[in-house]
Amino acid sequence: MKEVVKIALAGFGTVGTGLVKILMENKDWIKRRTGKEIIVSQILVKNLNKPRPIIPQSEPIFTNNVDEFLQNKDWDILVELIGGLELPYQIISKAILFGKHVVTANKALLAIKGKELLQLANAKNVGLYFEASVGGGIPIVQTLKESLCANKVTSISGILNGTANYILTEMSQQGLSFDLALKQAQEKGYAEADPALDIDGIDAAHKLVILIFLAYGEIYPFEKLWIKGIKQVDLLDINFAKELGYILKLIAQVQRESNGLRAGVFPAFFPNNHILSKVDGAFNAILVQGNATGPVVLCGQGAGDLPTGSSVLADIISLIKHNSQINNTGFKDDPFQQAKCLDFMDWECKHYFRFQVKDKPGVLSSLSGVMGEYNISIAQAIQKTQTKTKQGVPIVFLSHRAKLKQVTAAINKINEFDFILEPTIHYPIIE
Ligand code: HSE
Repeated sequence: MKEVVKIALAGFGTVGTGLVKILMENKDWIKRRTGKEIIVSQILVKNLNKPRPIIPQSEPIFTNNVDEFLQNKDWDILVELIGGLELPYQIISKAILFGKHVVTANKALLAIKGKELLQLANAKNVGLYFEASVGGGIPIVQTLKESLCANKVTSISGILNGTANYILTEMSQQGLSFDLALKQAQEKGYAEADPALDIDGIDAAHKLVILIFLAYGEIYPFEKLWIKGIKQVDLLDINFAKELGYILKLIAQVQRESNGLRAGVFPAFFPNNHILSKVDGAFNAILVQGNATGPVVLCGQGAGDLPTGSSVLADIISLIKHNSQINNTGFKDDPFQQAKCLDFMDWECKHYFRFQVKDKPGVLSSLSGVMGEYNISIAQAIQKTQTKTKQGVPIVFLSHRAKLKQVTAAINKINEFDFILEPTIHYPIIE
């Protein structure tokens, strides 16, 4: 590459600003690493009049016209930080067809259209790098692609959404309601523009599809994931969790079984001594089980201008340094076969149940009768008369291991009893 590497930046929001800040502050350091000067030569924005907290020293051309942005091809690497699907897809595919390298943080696009774009990039022998798409400043993409490549990965468990983790941490530590904790997360700038992506588990699910691809060299279609969000989480269950020695977290998980992969995103109880239980607030963490390394944990800031900007810049630097040795996927063969997706309902684990019931004779025996009928063995039972409200009393069961399909069938039957006052709450327990 030339002595001066020019970046075309699409999107100049939080991450774009972070990238420019690092480029300016660490200019000499980056030159030492790459031997080149990296400048931003043009920027695509939605609103030309919006005041910007920082402007690159290179005085780039600002435009809000996509055609104009793409017509001028006097740049080396496209950095896509717009978010969303259609426009980024259009811009990235055009850049690849022009023979340019691309860096993106767009997890939704990669989860939905990653196969197509990576195949196109491979065919054109250009880089399509995406370190910033998962875990903000955590170098998990490079770790799976390079550092752990000798391993067969048996499982990945991740706290991949900072907003959800912040909300659950605030509920647990400060006793805040879900709504208040969400409002705080939004004020702190953690949440996506549409918070449904965070709290419904969609953002974490997009990231999980990317991790599965990198770890297994297989495509796990997004729509085949088992996804549950945290919107319904009640402080009562968070408090029961605490009392029982657990903490509630939104987890993204994939497990390799002999006949395929089982993957999903869902809230679950973690024992207090589990390493992911220590990951609080907006932090993300990823626990990878390699068959040679055993457990490897990466933890750090999953969002924010500088952490995510750091990952974007790492990709840019990597493309400059290894310009002729592009490694988009970490695989030499075709990593685009569809994974064999196993039904989550066959997953076996321990479980937490909370039944909200009328306090009357026979309730406990009816509940335990249904558990027995579905072959679910109760490990512990609690009834708290002091938490009696107009919604009755909570009864909590912890069970031994059972399949999710047994649990779902039992809950469906239990919810039909006339003494049940609210739909039964259930969380898997991670061991
Ligand atoms: N909204 C995401 C989160 C950050 O809360 O983790 C960017 O991926």
